Amino acid sequence: MKMLRCFVFLIPTVFLAVACSAEPEVVFEPEVVPLPADPNDYAPLPTYEAMAIPEDNPMTPEKVALGKQLFFDKRMSGDGQLSCYSCHVCESGLTDGRPTAVGAFEKQLTRSSPTLWNIGYHSEFYWDGRAKTLEAQALAAWKGGNMGANPDEVVTQLNTISGYSSQFQGVFNEEATPDNVSKGLAAYMRTIVSHETPWDGWQAGDEDAVSEAAKRGYEVFTKAECNNCHDGVLLTDLQYHNVGVGMEAEEPDVGRFKVTQEESDTGAFKTPTLRDIGQSAPYFHNGSAATLEEAVDFMLSGGQDNAFLDRENLKKVSLTAAEKEDLLEFLRSLDQPCSLSEPALPPGPGE
Ligand code: HEC
Ligand code: HEC
Repeated sequence: MKMLRCFVFLIPTVFLAVACSAEPEVVFEPEVVPLPADPNDYAPLPTYEAMAIPEDNPMTPEKVALGKQLFFDKRMSGDGQLSCYSCHVCESGLTDGRPTAVGAFEKQLTRSSPTLWNIGYHSEFYWDGRAKTLEAQALAAWKGGNMGANPDEVVTQLNTISGYSSQFQGVFNEEATPDNVSKGLAAYMRTIVSHETPWDGWQAGDEDAVSEAAKRGYEVFTKAECNNCHDGVLLTDLQYHNVGVGMEAEEPDVGRFKVTQEESDTGAFKTPTLRDIGQSAPYFHNGSAATLEEAVDFMLSGGQDNAFLDRENLKKVSLTAAEKEDLLEFLRSLDQPCSLSEPALPPGPGE
């Protein structure tokens, strides 16, 4: 008898609770992750110099969280099909796995997607360095062929999304504008730092972090003077060199020449980092090398001969089969675990 009384009592209580909480106000809670520490504090410790953060775009956890959502949000593109992340994905070493990229509205682009690892340490952007700041680059990628968007139209849409408008107010003290969207994207990209490759572990003193073959391969890399250009812990000198890729074409991509108008810069491209290189096939600015072996063979051959080839830094190197295997093993020790993942995105009106 006792049990039955209890039962009858409980049911109305439950119904009451449901009735009270019907139609709750949906408040979007952005996922705010703490800022990465000063890159020099990372362990294992690549000795990066301090990243230059522009004075007018300081980093805050809230801004990085907002920038991350924008980076992953397909509503940012002209056709609603692509986000920035679509062409810079984890599984492909933060590139897109295609020889040359395909932008919004299926627009065929002429160059391959470069990796974004350590992009905050660069001072010029794109294969030819035509963008002077990461903020300018973000705006260009957004309204150019990559994302094919009209920034004014997109920010109008973003401002109708309450989850976004409250974040923009909180972070920038104003509604979304093309300028502050670019700032948010740039702030997020500055957190994409590679610091935990097996090679970093070895450099920091962990003898077991890489295989003996990779250690020998690093010697080969140095002996072959790959580090004339793939220099230091960034594994790029951030300079432009002609190694001859694509120069056999009837109308080759002139690369850096278009920016400087210096004849000697014809066919020169920014040295790519080799971090995560095992994941980012196909290779080169035009995607012409399908595999890592092919790309390495090309470099070992001294590049493709042409009038502007950087013969000073790039020389033909003959390696034994074993040395080449070791070199490839070293390059694979530069793989970087990738934890970029889609954050929750603010729902649009009526969603
Ligand atoms: C359709 C694929 C695609 C999409 C979408 C895309 N990108 Fe890229 N990204 C590329 C390609 C291709 C390049 C190289 C273009 C060049 O050098 O001329 C590039 C270059 C870059 C670079 C310069 C890298 C370097 O080494 O200098 C950055 C940074 C970047 N993208 C960020 C973004 C951001 C931010 C967005 C979103 C607003 C975005 N990308 C959307 C394909 C894409
Ligand atoms: C003269 C400077 C220079 C030297 C020396 C050099 N590289 Fe490169 N490397 C570059 C440039 C520039 C590119 C991009 C070329 C392009 O796409 O047009 C590149 C591209 C690569 C790529 C493809 C990267 C990508 O993301 O597409 C690999 C792999 C590579 N180099 C490995 C090596 C190895 C291994 C050596 C030594 C045997 C070497 N490089 C020596 C400048 C150099």
